[in-house]
Amino acid sequence: MSFRATVLTLFPEMFPGPLGHSLAGRALESGIWTLDCVNIRNFGLGRHRAVDDTPFGGGAGMVMRPDVIDAAIASVRDERQLIALTPRGAPLTQARVRDLAAGGGAILLCGRYEGFDQRVLDANGAEEISVGDYVLSGGEIAALALLDAAIRLLPGVMGAADSAAEESFAEPLLEYPHFTRPAEWRGRAVPETLLSGHHQAVADWRRAEAETITRARRPDLWARYIASQPARP
Ligand code: ADE
Repeated sequence: MSFRATVLTLFPEMFPGPLGHSLAGRALESGIWTLDCVNIRNFGLGRHRAVDDTPFGGGAGMVMRPDVIDAAIASVRDERQLIALTPRGAPLTQARVRDLAAGGGAILLCGRYEGFDQRVLDANGAEEISVGDYVLSGGEIAALALLDAAIRLLPGVMGAADSAAEESFAEPLLEYPHFTRPAEWRGRAVPETLLSGHHQAVADWRRAEAETITRARRPDLWARYIASQPARP
């Protein structure tokens, strides 16, 4: 059974976009996942097919109408999770991506303007997800990011070596730095340990590097990592 992605958007021409290339593109061609886009405009109201209106209570921007969005959702709704991409959603994590990839697919709702009338998200039990603490001009690029992260985990998309590597990122550390040939480049040498052929030394070096970089860049991950380590006597 394929992973089925359905995207509700005002800009269906943005899909598959980058997901039509490389790993995801090949997987799409081979039927590992499928993509359907629905233009929310098709459910717009009146001669201008309006999808939004001014916010009650005042303020800048426009809000996507609940009746319009609900009709778009109803046209595709099935047992799959409904996900609204919004900057006020819960941050996307690798754990959530893994769960999504293990399921049958998702219906992704992409907003523009100031967002959705909250009632249509509540009435449809939508899960709100954010791809980071910054504001995109719409949910489309967030949906592409979420789909990319899920698709690479589908069986048959990556080689066996890569999927094994994926498991190691279950570990809450940032990755150690990578090096390839040439062994010296612009006066910069590859760390000697990596040339030693000593597997345990390489593993120890990588672990130390991963810890150093995580501690420096991501105090949040570092704190969780430290808390998860068995206490040493
Ligand atoms: N739409 C606008 N910004 C977003 C973000 N950071 N994550 C998800 N959807 C968004």
